[in-house]
Amino acid sequence: MLAHTARPGRPEEILSTPALTAGLRQVERRLRRLSTSSRLPLVNRAAGRITGAGGKRLRPALTLATALALGGRIDRRTVSAAACVELVHTGSLVHDDLMDNAAERRGVRTVNAELGDAGALLVGDFMLARAGLAALSSVSRAVAETLAAAVVELAEGQFQETAALFDAGRTPEDALCSVRRKTASLFRASCVVAHPQGRAMAEYGERFGVMFQILDDLLDLASTAELLGKPAGNDLRQGVYSFPLLTAVERDCADLRPFLGRRLTEDEIAIVLARLRNSSMVEDTIEHCRGLAADALAVLPVVADPEAAAVLYGLPPAYLGRAESLLVR
Ligand code: IPE
Ligand code: IPE
Ligand code: MG
Ligand code: MG
Repeated sequence: MLAHTARPGRPEEILSTPALTAGLRQVERRLRRLSTSSRLPLVNRAAGRITGAGGKRLRPALTLATALALGGRIDRRTVSAAACVELVHTGSLVHDDLMDNAAERRGVRTVNAELGDAGALLVGDFMLARAGLAALSSVSRAVAETLAAAVVELAEGQFQETAALFDAGRTPEDALCSVRRKTASLFRASCVVAHPQGRAMAEYGERFGVMFQILDDLLDLASTAELLGKPAGNDLRQGVYSFPLLTAVERDCADLRPFLGRRLTEDEIAIVLARLRNSSMVEDTIEHCRGLAADALAVLPVVADPEAAAVLYGLPPAYLGRAESLLVR
């Protein structure tokens, strides 16, 4: 129970246990090979560059920790499943950056900035489909199906968000529905693919994923590009009205309603961000995420392996702590 109350460690520290470190190193090698396995050097360069540019590797870490938690080992199949999860994630980011017209990701230029929109569309397609093929050939049909189902949900969630751009009538519940599909689905799948009994951890992955995306949405409104390695304020600029924003407008920022439903100038974006940072949005969202982190831990089955327990209990509070450290108020 100590893990619930102790001051959270940093995510990198939590992931630096011996088994996780060794497993993640293998995942890196597998990921590198998969993302550069096209017949076309240009595709390999683009996919390899964005995959190799870093990233927290949170989803593959969840796969490895889940395998350990459920009494399994980190073997070749687990490593392949974890690499496939990360390839799906990175492919979805390539598409997301194309949709958001973003120029920077993981501290480097996006594929769309480098190769144009058509190039990013196709490189993203390559990565998603390559992950499916690798899951089928190196893991199992069941894992390939789980990943394909997650991609379906992810696309639906992204579609819902796109369909609601600049929609002043969007509700916090609409935003949550999109978050569950576009982000929590892959967190859930990261756990499910780890082990034949992985479904026991699905609900944990789901709740962690919702919390993670809400924190990301909060940081977009209350951090800086320098701290994040990707643009800030972009959701507002693109007309994505996220859960923290919509909740704040419902609670104590009704005066921001005239700024919804239309494109904003850079001056207006600065006004809205300043107003939000002076509201209870940050506190309310962090409080909400604390609840989600606690919910995630509450649905974890008993974890006997001490390394896996440290990772699975530690990560949600650690990400909460990390988000808090990146906020500018
Ligand atoms: C970014 O995910 C997309 C969201 C779901 C918010 P991450 O924040 O895990 O991105 P990387 O993998 O570390 O770059
Ligand atoms: C996450 O949403 C995208 C996916 C789930 C593919 P965001 O659009 O918030 O991610 P960032 O902020 O660009 O990393
Ligand atoms: Mg985005
Ligand atoms: Mg975001």
